[in-house]
Amino acid sequence: MRLDPFSEPYNRDPAATWRRMLATAAPVSYDPELGIWLIAGHDNVRTVLSDTTNFSNATTLAPVTPVSAAADAVLAALDAPPVAVTADRPHHLRTRAILRALFPTTAVRAQQQWGALVQTRVDHLATDLEQQSTADLMHFAVHLPLSVILDVLGMPITDATDVRAWTDDFARLVWGNPTPHAQFAYAHSSVALWRYCADAVTARAESGDYGCGLIGDLLRYRNHDDANLTVAEVAALALNIVGAGWQTTAGALGHALDQALTDPDRWARLADDEHSLSLHVEETLRHSPPIDGWLRQSTTEVTLDGVTIPAGSRCLVLIGAANHDPAVYDQPYVFDPLRTRAGQHLAFGAGPHYCIGAALARLELATALRTLARRMPNLSLAAGYQRQFRPSVALRQHTSLPVRRRDARRCPVAGTAGRPR
Ligand code: HEM
Repeated sequence: MRLDPFSEPYNRDPAATWRRMLATAAPVSYDPELGIWLIAGHDNVRTVLSDTTNFSNATTLAPVTPVSAAADAVLAALDAPPVAVTADRPHHLRTRAILRALFPTTAVRAQQQWGALVQTRVDHLATDLEQQSTADLMHFAVHLPLSVILDVLGMPITDATDVRAWTDDFARLVWGNPTPHAQFAYAHSSVALWRYCADAVTARAESGDYGCGLIGDLLRYRNHDDANLTVAEVAALALNIVGAGWQTTAGALGHALDQALTDPDRWARLADDEHSLSLHVEETLRHSPPIDGWLRQSTTEVTLDGVTIPAGSRCLVLIGAANHDPAVYDQPYVFDPLRTRAGQHLAFGAGPHYCIGAALARLELATALRTLARRMPNLSLAAGYQRQFRPSVALRQHTSLPVRRRDARRCPVAGTAGRPR
């Protein structure tokens, strides 16, 4: 059973492919067409994500589809130094330690620092939504984390449209299968995103007015001393955070809302039962991780599950398949909103690169679900809704999530057809 990450069936239901892989194929196998090793199984995925000796992050964000010479020439200007997710030791340990010192990583600290901010953003978007009888909830799912991550970094919200477009193009270049023509355009967007971060950070560093948010905190930590952090490293950390911070959470929010709205009882429980809310968030991350594949490269010849992977091999680490491993979960393909052992999921990775923003993402998911379920108890998926994801080897995000108010007059929703689930 081949995993074709750009095929229509995979982008409609990737879990069906993981199920067949786990049942029939070797969990560690080489796909000659993709030129990539596929890693499935909970133990294997956790091992690779945690093993920073035999596997490198240096090419984690290198495009999975080879880029044209023209696009490659453009990308030469994306000269961000290695930090956090793109770095190996020693840069990784140093830059991650700085992020951990400045960035709340526990639920309590995240709530203290960002609880009010996230609630304000959610309320604002919910008020907009209340004005509409039909809507695409992915608008909400995208705009919440996008505005929050700009607030967290201390970047102006007026830049949201540009930042969204550049980051989307960057993701299409890295995890998609674009034509050479599209690659060229996406390469320009990727460089524009890097220049945006670099120019904002450099202007603040040079003026001495470091400003608010994480960028201000990083510049104060730097304290004019490149031995602490260089200006380029601060900009690269901003790029890391803006890239990692919104698309992932937008994907997760789409999955969480989709699953919640399939059943009016589930939706009602989220309004006033905090335990159910927390279980729903974790089961969403297990069942439908918004990053379900992640790229690593072996640094040495390494044996995994009895299979030898040569040095220098690119690996697609199938987080989604790990989260659906029947050796770990009963009925893994069923979304069980009351599952109590979902928390072993690998949606936020594992080991030294474990997600810095997990507490922030969980805060955003819980605040959004609770608020929408309270304010819009009569929300439901549009008749004829069919789940479809944007094509990607890594990010699993709905193309749209059409909803209607149950008391609103039924209107057909554009682009949907077929039977309700
Ligand atoms: C549901 C939402 C999210 C998911 C599923 C997610 C997933 C992940 C995963 C799988 C990794 C590990 C990458 C690796 O092993 O190479 C990671 C790392 C990271 N994430 Fe998230 N993430 C989410 C939200 C966020 C947010 C909101 C931020 C914003 C601060 C963020 C910032 C980061 C950073 C900076 C890293 C790199 C950490 C390091 O390399 O040490 N993430 N994330």
